[in-house]
Amino acid sequence: MLKRCILLHCLFFALFGSGPVQAEPTNSPSGKQLFREHCATCHGPSGRGGIGLPLHLEDFLRIADRQYLMETIKHGRPGRVMPGFAHLLTRTERGRIADFIEGWQKGPEAELPEVGEGSADHGAELFERNCAGCHGYKGQGGTQPKAAPGHITGKKAVVPPALNNSGFLAAASDAFIKATMLRGREGTPMRAYGGAEELTDQQMNDLVAYIRSWGQGVDPLAKPVIEVRSDLPMDELIPMLKMSINSHNFVFIRQQTLYEGLPPAAKKPDSPVHILQFCSFGLLDKALKVDERVGAFLPCQISVYREGGRTVMSAINPKALSPLFHKPELELFCSLVSEKYLRIMQEANF
Ligand code: HEC
Ligand code: HEC
Repeated sequence: MLKRCILLHCLFFALFGSGPVQAEPTNSPSGKQLFREHCATCHGPSGRGGIGLPLHLEDFLRIADRQYLMETIKHGRPGRVMPGFAHLLTRTERGRIADFIEGWQKGPEAELPEVGEGSADHGAELFERNCAGCHGYKGQGGTQPKAAPGHITGKKAVVPPALNNSGFLAAASDAFIKATMLRGREGTPMRAYGGAEELTDQQMNDLVAYIRSWGQGVDPLAKPVIEVRSDLPMDELIPMLKMSINSHNFVFIRQQTLYEGLPPAAKKPDSPVHILQFCSFGLLDKALKVDERVGAFLPCQISVYREGGRTVMSAINPKALSPLFHKPELELFCSLVSEKYLRIMQEANF
């Protein structure tokens, strides 16, 4: 599908040049089709939610402006389940999806509140008392209940989203954050705090200041190593990881331990480090055409080991290293691979 889109676009530009786009190719997918293809598995076919938050929700739609939707679709929520679509969909396609989502809104846009100056210190106390129980001690968000994830049971456990997340903080304005507190999201566990005996206006400003104090928030792809930690024991996690690798269209090559093949004199660690190697020949082909130096990252590999009572999956982050090569096309490729790594690890742990 993606290939077809790219092809169509190329054809379009070949015919009409790359000037301002006046018309779209008539058979390009609609916002509705794109939503079904890229979003519905998680957000539900009519946006009522599942693994992803309900989007077809009046309290959300009235305060979420176009920029919020566009930024969210572009960045996703790195490190959370929500993928970023910057490399998968064009801006025009992302715009069509945003239009489609906005079409669900019935009432008028809400008037967004003024946000006055607040104290992050006061906000931190308020957050711990009122919000941390759901959104996590440092705003890292909740997790899907393992026993009954929404996509299997159809029951919608609306998981509290991460607030200290780079994708959320890039998309949300202060007014959006305050408006969410004021009105809550009817039909979800997020209630309104705007009532008389609830938070005062100043306290809400303090909370906004605290949430902003997280700066750009957490982006697990900003560090040179991508890591996901799991409570599953190693022998349960590794088969899941292999399945996840396959489901992302990579071919599993081999599994070995770190010291395999070394002379017996090499001291083995108490707990083995397993290395899983895999490859995508399609991706490899494309990457080598861009730059042979991608060989430095290949084949793809993820190490699995125990640390502090948990199982750790870790991989080199091509996105963080790609600036060393000074080549924009290579950066794009590396970002794609990094996002795949993260997703493979997250889904293994799901
Ligand atoms: C693999 C599952 C998954 C897919 C696919 C997915 N999302 Fe999400 N989405 C989520 C999750 C989970 C969250 C909440 C993030 C969190 O928990 O921190 C979310 C959050 C969002 C939000 C923020 C909602 C709010 O209340 O602020 C928007 C908007 C959104 N997704 C739109 C989309 C669109 C549009 C697509 C398709 C282009 C899409 N998502 C694809 C899982 C997904
Ligand atoms: C009982 C659990 C619960 C509590 C307590 C709670 N929230 Fe939420 N919050 C949620 C859920 C669930 C959502 C997602 C709602 C949805 O589906 O749109 C949410 C959404 C939000 C959002 C929007 C995030 C996004 O991605 O759109 C913000 C901002 C927020 N909460 C802030 C707060 C603050 C600040 C507090 C404390 C004053 C708080 N919440 C208390 C459960 C909770």
